[in-house]
Amino acid sequence: MKSRSDEILTPKMKRMAFLLILLLASSSSLIADSQTIVETLPGYPGPLPFKLETGYIGVGEDEAVQLFYYFVESEGNPDEDPLIIWLAGGPGCGTLRAFFYEIGPMQIQYGTYMDNVPALQLDPNSWTKVANVIYLDAPTLTGYSYTKTPEAVRSSDTLSASQTAEFLRKFVKTHPRFLKNPMYVTGISYSGIVIPIITEELYKGNDEGLEPIVNIQGYMGGNPLTDKTGDINSRLEYAYRVALISAELYESTKKNCNGNYAEADSNNLQCMLDIDEVNKRVGDINIQQILDPDCDAATNLVRGGNPIRTGNRKSLRGNPIKMLPARSFMKDGFCRGDYYNYATLWANDENVMRALNVREGTVKEWLLCNLDMKYNYGKPSMPSYEFNIRSSVVYHEKLSKRNCRALIFSGDHDMMVPHVGTRNWINSLNLTITDSNWDAWYANGQDAGYKTSYAHDNYSLVFATVKGAGHTAPEFKPVECFEMVKRWFANRPI
Ligand SMILES: *[C@@H]1O[C@H](CO)[C@@H](O)[C@H](O)[C@H]1NC(C)=O
Ligand SMILES: *[C@@H]1O[C@H](CO)[C@@H](O)[C@H](O)[C@H]1NC(C)=O
Repeated sequence: MKSRSDEILTPKMKRMAFLLILLLASSSSLIADSQTIVETLPGYPGPLPFKLETGYIGVGEDEAVQLFYYFVESEGNPDEDPLIIWLAGGPGCGTLRAFFYEIGPMQIQYGTYMDNVPALQLDPNSWTKVANVIYLDAPTLTGYSYTKTPEAVRSSDTLSASQTAEFLRKFVKTHPRFLKNPMYVTGISYSGIVIPIITEELYKGNDEGLEPIVNIQGYMGGNPLTDKTGDINSRLEYAYRVALISAELYESTKKNCNGNYAEADSNNLQCMLDIDEVNKRVGDINIQQILDPDCDAATNLVRGGNPIRTGNRKSLRGNPIKMLPARSFMKDGFCRGDYYNYATLWANDENVMRALNVREGTVKEWLLCNLDMKYNYGKPSMPSYEFNIRSSVVYHEKLSKRNCRALIFSGDHDMMVPHVGTRNWINSLNLTITDSNWDAWYANGQDAGYKTSYAHDNYSLVFATVKGAGHTAPEFKPVECFEMVKRWFANRPI
């Protein structure tokens, strides 16, 4: 057979066939080139005791957007455990933040160095013990992700959602071993806007016959920004409930502003005066965790209650997704922002980038959060990002008609995206309460928060508070959050 076909091929055809084979070979090695099995990492002694893969998947027109990911295979049962994607929020926050501080397999040993970088240790509460986790740097210029053209840089809520959905379908295509695992779209904070859009897009793509069919089963969001106006407005009621403002001021503000503070009419003097009074009382509160010391955004020093500075920073109308900037020094007192600096140090080390197989010359500097994308309430866009979805509630509504599971959890000490607003939009879905209604749930025999379960046909949603946790709940309550998701992934009551 072979010799016969050889006979009928002219030399020119042979050359073409050879070229074709070369082309095919190079494209398949390209796929291999964009995935790296990482066996060791600077800062950690010896081989990693879990399976880490890093790589890029191109999305968008001409695959000009090269999204970088870290994939950790489940340390439990990788063939059966869910496949989840985790989105860090911002938009524009590098997923290493989740990897080191929230749900990842490693933590930083503060103040200890190895291989000239902050030393790493294992995290006993890593979600990778029960799930295959993709930590994605998205959208566009987040973390180590980059674009092949300047035009491809600019993203938006809708574009980032569709590119992440595209990423997921391509991911399982190149990792067919995980095609059958139940897939969940998960994340925190600003990703609340895109999570339901991505999830709905995956269901829709399956309906339309996109290949490969993905086994999408649902989604999860932690203190997820969802209805931008409603979530910000709910800060007032939250401040009242946790005794930061008086009942009288709460009632007066509510009445004078007609329940609208985020978009309050600046000609309404009574309302403006009330908001000023509210801001005087919450201005020195750490919005991400009301019990943490307030740290000045510019210096990360613990702030005293200096009345002169009151009111020139945070307000009910202030930026709702505030990330602490990176600085390279530690001062007395506890500022969470100082801890994030270690990730920045680690991620900008040349040997780290080499170990992760970050493509040379693609990223000048790794940033904890890309400030050109960061959400700013009231602004329609930032240089690299357009905030074109005001509320993603309608996508939750669409998903409530699907065969779909959802888990929404709220650190109850977060004033940035308070549980009050989250409960409001969940209520607006008109679901039926099923087996629990603000019942306690437990971790290590202790009350870890409260849960309510809802259903509508084949859709189920569990809402849970995480008692004592701030905005990024797993960072504050790792044991409790790990217990919660372990049960939820296993289809058990949390
Ligand atoms: C929920 O019920 C209210 C009142 O009946 C109705 O106005 C609203 O459209 C319903 N929302 C959904 C998502 O069905
Ligand atoms: C729920 O799912 C089952 C099984 O997939 C299906 O037969 C049924 O029609 C669904 N019900 C609704 C109301 O969508």
